[in-house]
Amino acid sequence: MIAHALYSEKLASVYDQMYPFIEVDTQQAVGLLTELAPPPARVLELGVGTGRIAVPLADLGYQVHGVDGSPSMLARLKEKDPDGRITVDLADFTEFGTGRQYEIVVVVLNTLFSAVSREQQLSCLRNVRAQLAPGGRFVVEVFEPTPFHGLDQPSFSIRHLGAHAVMLDVLSVDRSRQLMVGTHTILDGGVPETTQHVMRYAFPGELDLLVEICGMRLEHRWADFTKQPFTNTSQRHVSVYAAADEGDPAR
Ligand SMILES: C[S@@+](CC[C@H](N)C(=O)[O-])C[C@H]1O[C@@H](n2cnc3c(N)ncnc32)[C@H](O)[C@@H]1O
Repeated sequence: MIAHALYSEKLASVYDQMYPFIEVDTQQAVGLLTELAPPPARVLELGVGTGRIAVPLADLGYQVHGVDGSPSMLARLKEKDPDGRITVDLADFTEFGTGRQYEIVVVVLNTLFSAVSREQQLSCLRNVRAQLAPGGRFVVEVFEPTPFHGLDQPSFSIRHLGAHAVMLDVLSVDRSRQLMVGTHTILDGGVPETTQHVMRYAFPGELDLLVEICGMRLEHRWADFTKQPFTNTSQRHVSVYAAADEGDPAR
């Protein structure tokens, strides 16, 4: 199992309950990808997890390949895709490349920030560029870090996991290293177990520079998958990048 995925390895059993309101967002994400490249395009999802996006894409006829470092998350994916339409690699996407190319490479739900240093993010982005087919698009969804970067004290919240379980979340930030540390404790009547999740966040402008260093350029940035404008109050962004050498008619 890959070190970056330790967190999801421990949370795989409750993962699909952690984001109960995400169904609409999932449909919207799939809708946007469909606009960028219709099926049966080839899609590579980094951090494919339990297949939240990958399964509906496969249903539409996409050829989906997923990379994930957590055997438990991939086992959940397999339960949802018993026929194996989605092919997978158990690997660290900051180091691993499939050796193939895709019309869409996508990494959603802050997963890019699981690469916990700038070097690891660069390594991942270089791999993405190598796997982007001519005319392909790289789609990233991450949070906008400004509100978290300003945290002086740990923030505390509770997540509802179902009728008999909650999750206690504590978030703290090391501003000097742009690291966010989340600790998650499940209270379900059993012995409480705490899991830690570290993310290295990047501001949008920094992300664009890292992507540019790796030979791609920003094409669109929206506040969500329905293409709402990205503004100074947006809490996340969906950014679409193309290969830099494909030329930008807008320039
Ligand atoms: C937040 S979950 C997102 C899962 C899925 N994409 C979704 O939208 O529901 C992040 C996933 O990325 C995987 N992951 C994180 N860092 C990774 C890395 N460096 N290499 C491979 N998988 C990684 C985790 O195991 C987990 O399944």
